[in-house]
Amino acid sequence: RFFVALSGGSTPRAMHRTLAQEPHLSEIPWHGVHLFWVDERCVPWEDPASNYGAAREDLVGRIPLPGKQVHPMPADVVPEDGALEYEGELARAFPLAEGHEPVFDLIFLGLGRDGHTASLFPGHAALEERERWVVAVKGGDPDMHRLTMTYPVLNRARVLVFMVSGKDKAEMVRTILETPGGPLPAQRIRPVDGRLIWLIDREAASFLSSHQSLA
Ligand code: 6PG
Repeated sequence: RFFVALSGGSTPRAMHRTLAQEPHLSEIPWHGVHLFWVDERCVPWEDPASNYGAAREDLVGRIPLPGKQVHPMPADVVPEDGALEYEGELARAFPLAEGHEPVFDLIFLGLGRDGHTASLFPGHAALEERERWVVAVKGGDPDMHRLTMTYPVLNRARVLVFMVSGKDKAEMVRTILETPGGPLPAQRIRPVDGRLIWLIDREAASFLSSHQSLA
């Protein structure tokens, strides 16, 4: 089984659509994939702001994934109840060692211009959460109620991939990559023993100093 968590926003949408087309559509062993979400806006799936709604259009509705292997966050209940509900779903889906967090094989993350990632926004209490796996927050752009995974889960992943695109992210990409260890939400993504990969397009990488090795 392969446990992966997707982020929302616009950046991942082109990748989602690409994965649902040949040759990837036939190459990927979908029968073993379990899809989760890093965060979600608390709106109906039909709402344009819904992360699951976008992923259902771009990917989920186009791949042979059994419904029981698709785990959208509950966006139609009181946010705090939704957070608890999703923690329960994680606990049921993962083979969990006692007292340990779920260990995702792969988590995709985006980067906001303010340095947020997932729905972990600068200055929010959720950044300090060390026990809960999923919490309800309010914030972001659009400013709304959201559910988000927390660092205890995110930093346990075997592989974390930031995908960043566009000139408007270049300043924050430079800040994050050239001053690691800072307080910004994306700077606090530090895998416990996993790998952190940055996929950055040329525009978003354009402020990086030349010596910065870009794989
Ligand atoms: C969300 C996302 C969020 C996103 C960044 C980047 O639900 O808003 O998970 O963390 O990844 O805001 O968004 P864009 O890809 O649209 O720039």
